[in-house]
Amino acid sequence: MKIDIIAGARPNFMKIAPIIEALEKVKNKITYRLIHTGQHYDKKMSGSFFEELGIPEPHVNLEVGSGTQAHQTAKIMEGYEALLLEDMADYCLVVGDVTSTMACSIAAKKLNVKVIHVEGGIRSGDETMPEEINRMVTDSITDVFYTTSDTANENLRKLGHDDEKIIFVGNTMIDTLLKYMPYFTKPKVYDELNLRAKGYFVMTLHRPANVDEEKKLKSLVDEIVKGSRGMPIIFPVHPRTAKILKGIGIDAENLHMTEPLGYLSFNYLAKHAFAVITDSGGITEETTVMKVPCLTLRDNTERPETITIGTNVLVGTNPDNIAPHMKKLHSGNWKTGNTPRLWDGKTAERIVQDLLTRI
Ligand code: UD1
Repeated sequence: MKIDIIAGARPNFMKIAPIIEALEKVKNKITYRLIHTGQHYDKKMSGSFFEELGIPEPHVNLEVGSGTQAHQTAKIMEGYEALLLEDMADYCLVVGDVTSTMACSIAAKKLNVKVIHVEGGIRSGDETMPEEINRMVTDSITDVFYTTSDTANENLRKLGHDDEKIIFVGNTMIDTLLKYMPYFTKPKVYDELNLRAKGYFVMTLHRPANVDEEKKLKSLVDEIVKGSRGMPIIFPVHPRTAKILKGIGIDAENLHMTEPLGYLSFNYLAKHAFAVITDSGGITEETTVMKVPCLTLRDNTERPETITIGTNVLVGTNPDNIAPHMKKLHSGNWKTGNTPRLWDGKTAERIVQDLLTRI
């Protein structure tokens, strides 16, 4: 069996790492080709993840680089189609919900290559987010879903997908988190700022709805600074956000902006934080497993189990909502949460076991 594994943007890399590790053990039965689309290309957004997570050099890099959604989609589809025409695969395995996920699944399906979607079936219901469109399109042409939650299974059934196509395996992102937790690395900024465990915030913001408008971004950050009661806030800034921040005068003594951090350093900071404030989906899963309070600056989530089971709360995107949640956090009454079912570090093994039955 020949499988193409697609990775394109930062949140893909920790999801493919354990799948590749598990595939390496069955090389005599399944061969894989790792394709990096080049959607993320910086060392800080891509290269460092390959190094830290021991992901082998991709067999191919499509080097699509920056651009609008349609531009990136078109370039990825063209590049991947050409690869397939040269050397056909049996399956195309995509993860998550980024532009690369959708683009490669379309190119594959049109050439009758079966599509496997890891993390299929999750939905926020918010069609203004590019990721939601990517999820909808990808799932509509997926042949095998490897899912992370009961909600995802339910969503897929409601969409009319047969039970045989839906395999509930757990969360590969958590495989990586649990494997690398003993190796999390204290970043330089920790000692430079004299941080102490549970004595600082970590913040990440990159969603267009939060960062593309200067005024909105400024009022969110201002409210967070106000609610922090002087505790240091470490803010590793995504390149998208960095461009906007340049134009805004945010100046608070306890707000410390850094470059995007590597996987091991970021998760060291998150694990020991008082709380994490974010608009990322993946981080809400990691904080749930690490039992760190998480405040999500979004109005919806495709990962409801991080709220019903985990430590996450939807604060929303209205800056006025931030103060009451910060108050609750400081009062020490945040929920401790539990770990969702099958988020146990063995998801990639389950995926490969299932793949072996399809040879
Ligand atoms: C993408 C994903 C999003 C994911 C996020 C995590 C889509 C639709 N969105 O959003 O789901 O949560 O990645 O990071 O796929 N840039 C760099 N260096 C890089 C990569 C990007 O400077 O290595 C710049 C680009 O030039 C662009 C901006 O960052 O200006 C945004 O990159 P882009 O790939 O368009 O999407 P993200 O906002 O990163």
